[in-house]
Amino acid sequence: MEFDRRSTDRLLFHDPDEAEQASAGATELSRDPKRRHLQRVPLFSGFNEDELRRVAELSRIVESPAGTVITHIGEPGDSFFVIIDGTVAVRTPVGAGSQLRPGDFFGEMSLVDGEPRSATIAATTDLRLLVVDRLHFWRLLDETPDLTRRILTILSRRVRHLEQTVHAILHGPSPG
Ligand code: CMP
Repeated sequence: MEFDRRSTDRLLFHDPDEAEQASAGATELSRDPKRRHLQRVPLFSGFNEDELRRVAELSRIVESPAGTVITHIGEPGDSFFVIIDGTVAVRTPVGAGSQLRPGDFFGEMSLVDGEPRSATIAATTDLRLLVVDRLHFWRLLDETPDLTRRILTILSRRVRHLEQTVHAILHGPSPG
């Protein structure tokens, strides 16, 4: 099952600050804990106030315990995730991928090409994630070209790393 809003609500353990401010009905204030989390994410470093506000408006923060499966290989997916706290394990059809850590993102592939999830991703520790749904993902990329550039850069690195891994498997490790 995809890590959708229903399952995240069930797994959610709210940030106490956020819960307190939400219960006070302070919509603007309730974004502050989220903004504090966003400011720690290198993917958004150098973003101006307007850009950070847009990221905050178009995303939600969810927290879930170690062991939660966030994406299931072969299933449809509608969310993009950025790790704020915690780590996840990536299992692809060709084996385990690198562990992903705070600042890393995942879930972009299904949003970009509309294909099912390419990997199973499971929390190896308690997690705090920034979650952006499909519609908001495209809106965010349209509005923050820097974010698009950064995501493309990291995707290129992942492809390069994968090619080097395949090369090493087929031909042995490169000299040096
Ligand atoms: P998506 O296919 O939407 O869902 C699973 C996600 O796992 C995928 O997007 C990528 O974000 C991520 N992913 C897939 N393969 C790898 C890999 N080899 N290394 C790191 N992340 C990966």
